[in-house]
Amino acid sequence: MTAHYQVHGDVAVITLDNPPVNGLGLSTRQAIARGLDRAHDDEAVRAIVITGAGKVFSGGADIKEFGTPRAYQDPNLLSLILTLDHARKPVVAAVHGVCMGGGLELALGAHYRIAVPGTKVALPEVKLGLIPGAGGTQRLPRVLGVEPALNMIVSGEPVAAEVLAQVPGQRLFDRIAASADTLLQEALALAREAAQRHADGTPLPRVRDLPCRHPQGDAYFQFARNMVGAQARHYPAPLKCIDAVQAATTKPFDEGLAQERQTFLNLMTDPVSLALRHVFMAERAAGKIADVPEDTPLRDIRAVAVIGAGTMGSGITINFLNIGLPVTILETKQEALERGVANIRAVYEGQVAKGKLKPEQMQERLSLLRTTLSYDDIRDADLVIEAVFEDLEVKRQVFERLDAVMKPGAILATNTSTLDVNKIAAFTKRPQDVIGTHFFSPAHVMKLLEVVRGAATAKDVLATIMALGKRIKKTCVVSGVCDGFIGNRMIEQYSRQAGFLLEEGCTPEQVDRAIEKFGFAMGPFRMGDLAGNDVGWYIRKRRYVEKPHLRYSPIADRLCEMGRFGQKTGAGWYDYQPGKRDAIPSPLVNQMIEDYRKERGITPRKISDEEIVQRLVFALVNEGAHILEEGIAARASDIDMVYLTGYGFPAWRGGPMHYAEQFGLFNVMQAMKRFARNPNDDAQFWQPAPLIQRLVAEGKGFAAA
Ligand code: NAI
Repeated sequence: MTAHYQVHGDVAVITLDNPPVNGLGLSTRQAIARGLDRAHDDEAVRAIVITGAGKVFSGGADIKEFGTPRAYQDPNLLSLILTLDHARKPVVAAVHGVCMGGGLELALGAHYRIAVPGTKVALPEVKLGLIPGAGGTQRLPRVLGVEPALNMIVSGEPVAAEVLAQVPGQRLFDRIAASADTLLQEALALAREAAQRHADGTPLPRVRDLPCRHPQGDAYFQFARNMVGAQARHYPAPLKCIDAVQAATTKPFDEGLAQERQTFLNLMTDPVSLALRHVFMAERAAGKIADVPEDTPLRDIRAVAVIGAGTMGSGITINFLNIGLPVTILETKQEALERGVANIRAVYEGQVAKGKLKPEQMQERLSLLRTTLSYDDIRDADLVIEAVFEDLEVKRQVFERLDAVMKPGAILATNTSTLDVNKIAAFTKRPQDVIGTHFFSPAHVMKLLEVVRGAATAKDVLATIMALGKRIKKTCVVSGVCDGFIGNRMIEQYSRQAGFLLEEGCTPEQVDRAIEKFGFAMGPFRMGDLAGNDVGWYIRKRRYVEKPHLRYSPIADRLCEMGRFGQKTGAGWYDYQPGKRDAIPSPLVNQMIEDYRKERGITPRKISDEEIVQRLVFALVNEGAHILEEGIAARASDIDMVYLTGYGFPAWRGGPMHYAEQFGLFNVMQAMKRFARNPNDDAQFWQPAPLIQRLVAEGKGFAAA
């Protein structure tokens, strides 16, 4: 049963019971409809209460049903709520915990509402590129006023019930309950009062009958469009929310409702909404590991040690201090420790200056920080994260030492970005306790955490790190062991293509502009200047030895030979004015590229923005397909999460793999064949991954991989 029916004296109580959030899937809706019928058929019942079991009223639509025919099957949410309009007995919605989306729309269909303080109330559909589709845009303005309602609908953000109950003139909540414990009793009392009040046939109060207008009318809505338009450039839903709320103020209720429904249905097939819903599901899927049950017992993490107080070590430390875990940083030199602590303090001071953190919170966090030069001081840590130089020999020394001193059961993690986690694990006699935690820089800011599962990593170690990652608010994606893991392995192919584009005729700014117009936060060359071009140079030099069959454009090497490492040297692919970060196209670099082409006898050609974007994105996709096929990533959506949270891929395009599927894998393969015929491109590069070939042949998508 997904909703229960019980009679308390003369009041029927319908309790939604569909864990975890009482989602309004088909069987729940059917159970509610049955409950309403029973209540109407029972002469002894004078009023009805709808409430939720567990910690919440309802989180809204059932995500498992999203986009499937079941979501529309009757009673769909809209028709269920319309039956409430015709109820002959008063219906009270008694809400607590969470009352969102369809849950709020259902409550708005009731005649009376009572909420527990702290209940999170929202219409979050806009976050999925949708608008509310079961009357939310028509009813909320009627009970809350146009402006507060529009703010909620356009932002999708939750507001506490007691705050909403303070809105002047509001009719959203008739009563605020004392607590969740008393909610049912108070709701029953409200229901009985209502039954009494309407016993003489006084019509039941329906939200649809309330007036809805704004004193400034059109001018207000134009103002709202101007406010939202700029922020929502790629997102159609916020403006559609405004249209729908405006319709509530200008049209009869049923016409407004029809407009809302039509807009909702149109947006269901809108590419941006498809992408945002994909991301929503992808975020939830990423935490699941097929062979690691969700109830795997976790190791207790009460104290953390970090080895290395450099760029990454300091950033990593901040994550744990922020959640109240004590951290001890170990270094080889006192100066390095002092530098690291100064960096951490500077981050907190910056947050205090911006008003994001209270001075006492900063003190509290810094008081959890210890530093040491001795392994003796970290032996009791439950988790140690190594962030020393990217050198296997240095890592060996550190891990042998950790193996010797750390208490049994401690988790030994490495932040390596390119080295083999299995080799690192083999430096110890406890490879089951070793795991990769690949943070992204700046580690206290970037959402992504690639969790690298070694061949021997124990399941409880993996589960513990995934859970801890969630606590420090990271998006954790599991990666198998390979060079570069998921993200950097793919970005290498993207960077190689960016180099080939220069050879063939592009300038750095043309490439950056095209991919930034596509929606990337930063193009490859501006990114190189920010991160330091020497980092890639160092990796390429290693590749030239390890993988001599791979072709790289030597243009990036020439840039580094000129000492142009990027912003840190005041010059890279672009020129920079002292102290500024604006990238200014560099005549010197463009000349260097032209000289290179002449030397190689390459006749430059004009390359369209479309080709630039496709070559960069499909380079990611093809490598992503290899990664998927090799089992390095468990699912295509994990790869998307890596790119969305770690590499600035536009959220409204859903990630590279989703984008490719929407583009059509057949079309992707056709494009690759075209690029393979380009005069100076690399035909071998554009060999479609076997997985893509197979999926195209079978007419399937990545989900079938
Ligand atoms: P860094 O050079 O800023 O810091 C390394 C620190 O480790 C230095 O403070 C050094 O004194 C210390 N150190 C060296 N040997 C040590 C030892 N035996 N014991 C204790 N401390 C020692 O380097 P960064 O950038 O913080 O990188 C650290 C690790 O994180 C590397 O494995 C790197 O590949 C990885 N990484 C770096 C990213 C980045 O963007 N910088 C991103 C992701 C991973």
